[in-house]
Amino acid sequence: CGIVGYIGKDNAKNIVINGLKRLEYRGYDSAGVAFIDSGELKIFKKSGKIRNLEFKLNKDLSLPHVAIGHTRWATHGEPNDINAHPHTDCSGKIAVVHNGIIENFTELKKSLENRGHKFKSQTDTEVIAHLVEEEIQKGKNLQEAVLSAVAKLKGSYAAAVIYEGEPDKIVCVRKDSPLVIGIGEGENFIASDVPAFLSYTNKVIFLNDNECAVVTADNVQIFDLNGHKVEKEIKKIPWSIAQAEKGGYKHFMLKEIYEQPKAIADTISGKLSIFEKKNEKILTNFDKIQIVACGTSFHAGLIGKFFIESISRIPVSVDYASEYRYRNPIIDKKTLIIAISQSGETADTLAAVRLARKKSAKVVAICNVIGSTITREADYTIYTHAGPEISVASTKAFTTQLAALFLFAVEVAKVRKTIDEETENKLLNELSEIPKKLKTFLDSENEKKLIRNIALEFYNSQDALYLGRFVNYPIALEGALKLKEISYIHAEGYPAGEMKHGPIALIDEKMPVVVIAPKDRVYEKIVSNIEEVKARKGKVIAVTNANCPEIKKLADFTIEIPTTEELLYPFLTVVPLQLFAYHIADFLGYDVDQPRNLAKSVTVE
Ligand code: G6P
Repeated sequence: CGIVGYIGKDNAKNIVINGLKRLEYRGYDSAGVAFIDSGELKIFKKSGKIRNLEFKLNKDLSLPHVAIGHTRWATHGEPNDINAHPHTDCSGKIAVVHNGIIENFTELKKSLENRGHKFKSQTDTEVIAHLVEEEIQKGKNLQEAVLSAVAKLKGSYAAAVIYEGEPDKIVCVRKDSPLVIGIGEGENFIASDVPAFLSYTNKVIFLNDNECAVVTADNVQIFDLNGHKVEKEIKKIPWSIAQAEKGGYKHFMLKEIYEQPKAIADTISGKLSIFEKKNEKILTNFDKIQIVACGTSFHAGLIGKFFIESISRIPVSVDYASEYRYRNPIIDKKTLIIAISQSGETADTLAAVRLARKKSAKVVAICNVIGSTITREADYTIYTHAGPEISVASTKAFTTQLAALFLFAVEVAKVRKTIDEETENKLLNELSEIPKKLKTFLDSENEKKLIRNIALEFYNSQDALYLGRFVNYPIALEGALKLKEISYIHAEGYPAGEMKHGPIALIDEKMPVVVIAPKDRVYEKIVSNIEEVKARKGKVIAVTNANCPEIKKLADFTIEIPTTEELLYPFLTVVPLQLFAYHIADFLGYDVDQPRNLAKSVTVE
C-alpha cells in the first residue's frame, strides 16, 4: 500500500493524487483521499485504480491545503469502495490512512463496539480512527490522541491522521512499515516512498520505528512514543524526477530493461564504502554466509551463491526470507548475513535481518533505496545504483544486485587471498565489460525483432518451461517468474538436468521450452537436454552465443548473446527473458507495469 500526505500553500488534493499515482506500484486495488476544506473533513474513495478516484474527484471544486491519501493492496476486507482508505470515526471528523496489519484488531473492534462505536468497513485500519476519537473525547489533542491510540495496537503500521478540530497538521506514526517526510518551503509532504513527492523536494527525513511526526506547512517535529522530541537528520536523495518518468517508453518496465547497461555501470563505479579499509574486518570475520531475500532478489541471491563460493570459497546458503525465521537457522558470530532487497522495506526480509542481528550475526544489506529500513538496521550496506525502479516486475534492480554480489565476492576473495591479483583483475575487467556488451545486445535491431517475433508466436501459450544449468539455473527461475508476473501464463523454471525427473512429462508440440545455453562448462550437457526436448516435439527457444551450430540446428529459435567469462553470463542471459515476458504481456494487452494482485514493496508478512 502507499500513503501520501500534503500540507501547504497549494491544492493539497491534486498533489496527493499525483503522489498516489507515483506510488500506484505499491498496490492498486482501491484508493482514496481525505482533506479538510473550509473547516470540514471530506473523504472520497473508489475501488480500482487511481484514475477511478480522480474521475470521482473531478466533480469536487474544493481547494484544500491539507490532505492525506492512500492506494491499497488489500489485506483485510475485499477491495471495494467501503474498505478503501481513508477510514473515519463515528463523528466523521477524523481520517486515517494506514499501511500494515493491526494484529489485535478483532479484539479492539469488539471492545470499541461494546462501547458504542459503529464500524463501516471490514478493515483493521478503522479501529485506529475510533481509538483516536475516544482519546480526543477525553480532552487530548490530536498528537496525544494518536500516541495513546497506537499504544494499544499490536502489529505493523505506518499511519497518518488528520482531524477537523486541528486542520493545520498531519500527525503520523510508524512501526515496521515505511514512512518518509519530504521537506519543502512553506509546504511539507509525507509518503511511503520518496518518488511520491520527488517532483517537489528531494530533502527527506526518514521516520524510524516508534516515532511520531507532527507535520505542519512550516514545520516538522519528530517525537518518540512518549512524546519526547527527537532530533533527525535531513537527507538529500540523489534521484531526479526524470528518472521516475517513462521518458518516451511505452512502459516503465521497458525503460528499466534498457537502463540496465548504465545502472550496472553505476553500481560498478559506485563507491562501495563497505570495502574501505576500516571495514575490512567484516570481510574476514566469518566462516559462512546466509543470504536472505524474496522474489527476484532471492534469485539474485542464488546467483550470488555461485559467485561467492566459486571466487571466495566460503559456504553460502540462500533462503527465502519468509521461510528463514521459521526454520530455526543456525546463526552465530561467525555467520555473515547478506540481505538483498531492492526496496529495503520487504517485511519478510526485514524480519530475517532482525532475527540474525538478535543472534549476534553481522548483516550486510544490498539495497537500492537510500535510507530504507533494511539499510538502517543492517551493519553495512552496499547500495546498488539502479535509480528508482517503478515497474512492479524487477529488472534493473536484479542485474545491479548481481553486480554488487560479484564485487563483494571478488573483494572477499582479495582480502582472504583466495585469488591472486591476476585473477582479480581479470574478473573485474570482465565485469566492467558487461555494460558495453549488454548495450550492444539491446541496441541490435535484429535481436529486438527476433524477440518480438518469438513473443508473437507464443503469447497464446498456456504454459512455458524454462531450463538452465549451473549459474544460469537461477536465470531459468527468474525468466519463469517474469513471465508469470506480467503475462499470467503459467511458467516453471527447472535445472535442465532435473527435467527427466518430472517436467519432461509436460512436453508436447505446444509447449515452449526456453533453454539458457551459453558456451560454458555445461554447454554439451545442455545441448543433450535440448535433444531430449526436441525428441518430445517441444518448441525450443534457446539463449546462446553466436557460433553454436549444435544449438542452431536443434532449436526453433536462437537468441544470440555476447560472450563473457562463464560466471558472468546471468547478466546477459536474463535480459532476453525480460524482453520476452514484456512483449508477451504487451501483446496480451495487460497492464505491464502494474500486474494484477502484485505490489512492488510487500511491507506485510
Ligand atoms: C515483490 C515484488 C518483486 C520483488 C519482491 C522483493 O514481490 O513484486 O518484484 O522482487 O517483492 O522485493 P525487494 O524490494 O525486497 O527486493
